[in-house]
Amino acid sequence: MTVTASSASRAAEILSRPVALNGLTVPNRIAMAPMTRMFSPGGVPDEDVRSYYARRAAAGVGLIVTEGTYVGHESAGQSNRVPRFHGEEQLAGWAKVAEAVHAAGGTIVPQLWHIGMVRKQGDPPYAEAPAVGPSGIRLDGTESSGKAMTQGDLDDVIGAFAEAAAAAERIGFDGVELHGAHGYLLDQFLWAGTNRRTDAYGGDPVARTKFAAEIVAAVREVVSPDFPVIFRYSQWKQEAYDARLAETPEELEAILAPLAAAGVDVFHASTRRYWLPEFEGSDLNLAGWTKKLTGRPTITVGSVGLDGDFIRAFVGEGAPVQGIDELLDRLERDEFDLVAVGRALLQDPEWAAKVLGGRLEELKPYDAAALKTLS
Ligand SMILES: Cc1cc2nc3c(=O)[nH]c(=O)nc-3n(C[C@H](O)[C@H](O)[C@H](O)COP(=O)(O)O)c2cc1C
Repeated sequence: MTVTASSASRAAEILSRPVALNGLTVPNRIAMAPMTRMFSPGGVPDEDVRSYYARRAAAGVGLIVTEGTYVGHESAGQSNRVPRFHGEEQLAGWAKVAEAVHAAGGTIVPQLWHIGMVRKQGDPPYAEAPAVGPSGIRLDGTESSGKAMTQGDLDDVIGAFAEAAAAAERIGFDGVELHGAHGYLLDQFLWAGTNRRTDAYGGDPVARTKFAAEIVAAVREVVSPDFPVIFRYSQWKQEAYDARLAETPEELEAILAPLAAAGVDVFHASTRRYWLPEFEGSDLNLAGWTKKLTGRPTITVGSVGLDGDFIRAFVGEGAPVQGIDELLDRLERDEFDLVAVGRALLQDPEWAAKVLGGRLEELKPYDAAALKTLS
């Protein structure tokens, strides 16, 4: 049990350290991972959304990344219950969410989202809009009825991201996260599996990154220089967990360097298990490699606090590699700067308070039923 006490106090001490993300100081190292909820009828986040995020901020989450929220483009999404980041009523709702999170002592960024070729049947208000993407190809390689984006489409989407980012700053958010992960629109450009373009937006990794980099530059242009711009990306895609953008650090650098040059302040490297090495010959995970290659702060994510083993390590019944000490060691080595927590924070809104307060014995084992309530 001495292991427990020392792990608990070490976790409290290390995770409580503030961190600067461009002009924003986040009070500790715990971030809430973006998680779609579909609790915003008409795309308007209301009291339910406010209290959902404010509860986690009050319990110590340092940085909240909201669920993905659609930018103002007719093909951006497909559900009328996913919040939108455009429109008067929708933005008024979001302003109150930011205010509630700040009142609870937290910081918050919206995750700006365009789903691209993942779009199937759409709800109002844009039920008839086509699915759009780099080449009109779905993640499974089928062509279906998707549309390859024209230069006009690209310009419209770039403008929609920039407008949403400007709105985020205007209504009181602390930064923005651009959703470039998991096989959605930006990732469809980054990934050769969905990007077969023969113009300047397709071909080698640098060309495939051009669209995302133009979005970053357009966002950077309309927000203050110290307003943090976070870029989330992943190797894996929904429907294709084994897909990879980059097989080597050199290929990864070809993608990340133009994004950093365009103005990304922070990378959020999405993995499903944070402890897995990304490339042979090094223990670094994807966030670790991202920091090494770009010099930018990074956020790691993936099964933190979920695993039964992780909890057993907390309470001193053994110390498997994915226990808290592994995470703390990596943080201490500056491999990454923040730790995003997804499902464990759905399960237990008090998760951060328990970890930061050294009350590890109060953590509840994860139960997938938490996904059904999302309260
Ligand atoms: C219900 C649910 C919804 C999610 N929605 C999003 C999303 O909108 N945007 C995103 O980038 N990732 C999304 N994710 C992925 C999470 O942000 C996170 O990367 C993943 O759950 C792994 O973290 P965890 O193991 O701590 O849960 C979602 C995950 C879950 C479980």
